[in-house]
Amino acid sequence: MSNVNTLGVIGSGQMGGGIAQVGAVAGLNVLVFDSFPTALEKCKAGHRKVLARSVEKGKMAQADMDAALSRVKYVGNLDDLKPADWVVEAIVEDAKVKKDLFARLAAMFPAEHVVLATNTSSISITEIATSAGAASSRVVGMHFFNPVPLMQLVEVIPGIQTSKDVVERTVALATKLGKTPLRANDRAGFVSNRVLMPMINEAFYAWMEGVAEPEAIDGIMKLGCNFPMGPLRLADFIGLDTCVHIMNVLADGLNNDRYRACPLLRQLVSAGRLGDKSGRGVFEYPAK
Ligand code: CAA
Ligand code: NAD
Repeated sequence: MSNVNTLGVIGSGQMGGGIAQVGAVAGLNVLVFDSFPTALEKCKAGHRKVLARSVEKGKMAQADMDAALSRVKYVGNLDDLKPADWVVEAIVEDAKVKKDLFARLAAMFPAEHVVLATNTSSISITEIATSAGAASSRVVGMHFFNPVPLMQLVEVIPGIQTSKDVVERTVALATKLGKTPLRANDRAGFVSNRVLMPMINEAFYAWMEGVAEPEAIDGIMKLGCNFPMGPLRLADFIGLDTCVHIMNVLADGLNNDRYRACPLLRQLVSAGRLGDKSGRGVFEYPAK
């Protein structure tokens, strides 16, 4: 059994916000922290909007929405997460930033029962866990997919130090959240991004080399391969900055330059075109 009462979520962007929402709807108390107050405000407004739509469509009772929202607290200090008995980190995909955070989390959560999970897309769990010192056996990869409320999978990745008990409890918690947990080993990108991200990167090369325009690349992959979104639309949805971070981890971790991010993808990130979250990436999203 997962025996989790209070879920602490660090990072209230698209992933942290989704994880917090799913936790609250499943009956957990949730504490969400972000270092940017505006991100917390956006997260809070997003929860209200998405759940209200579920109520309008008759998929959720108003009382259940109110109860779920009352279980979430949006907090402005990391220390406010101390009551949590399970933490999921969903901050920027940068090994150094994550390791600094996990060193702090290890000091904040000395109790043996508290699990320190990371939603990293690609970074070695073993490497992140190293920064947690004696708490490294409680560090685990718990990789949700975007959009969290709709996607079924949680990829569960133990590091070398992760205890068997923590892996079993991660599987139990993912199941309690209504997800299907599947195990992968701790190699750069795990399974999901080892396979997905090079395909997305290749779509940028196809665009850069003039094989086709973005609309045609996406249309061909949607209609020809039955993808719900074309690879370039999906890159915008994931965040082009996150795509570059993941490609860097693949290239370094697998020690192979064929995984280097396409120059055009890097250029868009340099120009601040990060995808949906900045209003423009490959495509434009004026409403966002
Ligand atoms: N919470 C709750 N409900 C939500 C929601 C949310 N955050 N967002 C949307 N919904 C609801 C909508 O209200 C809608 O409800 P109705 O059916 O009642 O109208 C329903 O979900 C479907 O919404 P849409 O009509 O907008 O959705 P769609 O049918 O176009 O599908 C999609 C949207 C699921 C995102 C689909 O386009 C898809 O599967 N895209 C690919 C996503 C994907 O590949 N994700 C993985 C990315 S990689 C990753 O995550 C790993 C990594 O490390 C990078
Ligand atoms: P995002 O940019 O939407 O959100 C990240 C949030 O973290 C921001 O609100 C930012 O203010 C906050 N943040 C950054 N550094 C922080 C710190 N030190 N302390 C507290 N908050 C901090 O990013 P995202 O798409 O939600 O991705 C978050 C993580 O989840 C990354 O590791 C990413 O690789 C992973 N992930 C992303 C996707 C995806 O499709 N976007 C899917 C699965 C996993």
